[in-house]
Amino acid sequence: MTTNLLRSYDWNKLSNFLLFAAAEAGVVYTLSTTATTSIKDLAESRPKSPPLWMQLYVVKNRAGARTIIRNAEVNGYKALVITVDRPITGLQLSRWRNRIKLPPHLSTPNLADALKEANASAQTDIHSSKVQVIPPITWKDIARIKSITKLPLILKGILTVEDALKAVKYGVAAIWVSNHGGRQLDCVPTTLDALSKIAPALAGTGCEVYVDGGFRWGSDVLKALALGARAVFIGRPMLWALNHSVSPPSFKFENNTQL
Ligand SMILES: Cc1cc2nc3c(=O)[nH]c(=O)nc-3n(C[C@H](O)[C@H](O)[C@H](O)COP(=O)(O)O)c2cc1C
Repeated sequence: MTTNLLRSYDWNKLSNFLLFAAAEAGVVYTLSTTATTSIKDLAESRPKSPPLWMQLYVVKNRAGARTIIRNAEVNGYKALVITVDRPITGLQLSRWRNRIKLPPHLSTPNLADALKEANASAQTDIHSSKVQVIPPITWKDIARIKSITKLPLILKGILTVEDALKAVKYGVAAIWVSNHGGRQLDCVPTTLDALSKIAPALAGTGCEVYVDGGFRWGSDVLKALALGARAVFIGRPMLWALNHSVSPPSFKFENNTQL
């Protein structure tokens, strides 16, 4: 499952629920930096053992980023997914029209240090220049992060062969072909088109290639695998499914933790 910031507006434990579903399905779950569940809480609530990965937005406050990385390490996360396609937040008209912001009873615990340092609010500032890296993340940041963690690095948001090959030079374990579900920038290439160029270029390098964006059918997944992807990630469909057919109060973890 791909990383969703999961403002679980009415339901603070949405990430835990999705983790449980991932465990049942035997698939990786990736927790967002901006999730409303903490790295530690999610790891502790793990019902079985699906691999957990941590997504990293490189925040302005470098100590805040280090805290996220250390927390991921000590809580058994298996990889660090660095999102590189969100140097600034794209103009998302639906969010702007609906004036979406985090309700006061929720917080973004993984950004606590970064928010504190910036004297910023989880409700309004998590994607603002107060907290996010300005100027945007660079290859130097990738080298720096690699030097401070043993976790494998995955770069999420790569769309060109040039960047993919550069990522290999920087020693990343995998690249994740993604256009952020088309939510960041209009007119981005489709990820299947990008994958069809990137996967052959990386063949034999040892760097794995993943992909997400618009996968809705099993046949979509098969096409990506045939084009050279090692794995396919799913974002919105799991949110739609939850919205449509899950009644939170009736759901219980195996250990009877009521959601
Ligand atoms: C509500 C929502 C929140 C998202 N939050 C994040 C995030 O915090 N970090 C990130 O790297 N990508 C985020 N994404 C992008 C997804 O990880 C993923 O790239 C995209 O949703 C895949 O496309 P799909 O939804 O068509 O499967 C988000 C997407 C959605 C729909």
